[in-house]
Amino acid sequence: MNFGALLFHEDREKPQMIELRSDTFTMPTPEMLAAIVRAPLGNDGYREDPTVRELEELAAARMGKEAACLMPSGTMANLASMMAHCICDKNVVLLGDKSDIHIYESGGADLCPGIVFSALDTQADGTIRIGDLEREFQKWRDGSSSKIALLCLENPHNLCGGVVLPRGYVRAVADFVHSRGVKLYLDGARIFNAAIASKTDVAEIVKDVDSLQFCLSKGLAAPVGSVVVGESQFVGRVRKSRKILGGNMRQAGIIAAAGIVALQRMVDRLEEDHINACRLAEGISAMPGVQVDLSTVQTNTVVFRVVDERFSCESFIASARRYGLNLSEFRYGRIRAVVHHGTDAEQIQEALRITAQVLEEGPVEEASYCAESHA
Ligand SMILES: Cc1ncc(COP(=O)(O)O)c(C=O)c1O
Repeated sequence: MNFGALLFHEDREKPQMIELRSDTFTMPTPEMLAAIVRAPLGNDGYREDPTVRELEELAAARMGKEAACLMPSGTMANLASMMAHCICDKNVVLLGDKSDIHIYESGGADLCPGIVFSALDTQADGTIRIGDLEREFQKWRDGSSSKIALLCLENPHNLCGGVVLPRGYVRAVADFVHSRGVKLYLDGARIFNAAIASKTDVAEIVKDVDSLQFCLSKGLAAPVGSVVVGESQFVGRVRKSRKILGGNMRQAGIIAAAGIVALQRMVDRLEEDHINACRLAEGISAMPGVQVDLSTVQTNTVVFRVVDERFSCESFIASARRYGLNLSEFRYGRIRAVVHHGTDAEQIQEALRITAQVLEEGPVEEASYCAESHA
């Protein structure tokens, strides 16, 4: 769909495909496009773009932190944050072995010679056990020239199915690392989904972490952008890292304008996505040949397994696609459906009808498949 069509509401009839591969398929809303057209602009490399500054102030206030920095993507936000937290020999980053940073982004981080990663077991609920952290701290204390700088958590945890970390757990981990002089960072790509699911103000959810990034371009439906928030000095270092990584932007107010609308208008409606995700999960769980753990359906993500032996993951996805439903492969033999602003209750019903039809008819022949996607 082109910009003009979106702006002037042309061609807005429902798309042919039901797109549940990811919430990154959301289109900017007409309000976002109008805000982009009207946005006052300047050179953000000189800190002179008023719309970027407005977004950053809004984001920092919303999260209850001192400062914020607009980033082009969640991946760069994570990397710039880790670079900013690692200083001299305090350069070890602990993270979960199922975290987005470890599984999908560590290639970029490996290019930063200053950072040493250590991946710990991720539990099914997205947590890392405090006992495992204790052992890890012991390991790095004994005669190592590097010291632990940072622990990264992810909330909601994407690969664990969008589950929300318990607040008491985050507090306990924060106490544990802070008492050892280590910072706590949160990959909060979908942190507003966690806040809505927990019926808690987002600032309360992130109160115990030192810094975080959240994405504007996922469930909040902005076309581009993530924001890093934290203490002013840390955010200053993030800005420097962003520049090194080539992420310095100029008239970035065109991105920030949509981001402001995302923060002001798109947060509360995430509840609708969560309700639709539950409907979808409950419908699928009632079908023979598929398994869904309903306890993991806490936000906008539904993860399921096809146990009907006629299908492989790939052939199930290809068959659903043939009938107009786009799903994605999600590692460990699982399939993922993500509900978003572009999905309404009627499409959820249709998605269920297609899933039932695929299960009834078996795999379509010559089912060709599309690559794994996670974002
Ligand atoms: C939890 C999490 N963190 C970070 C990212 C990376 O964000 P981006 O695609 O904007 O680089 C993703 C992408 O899906 C994600 O799910």
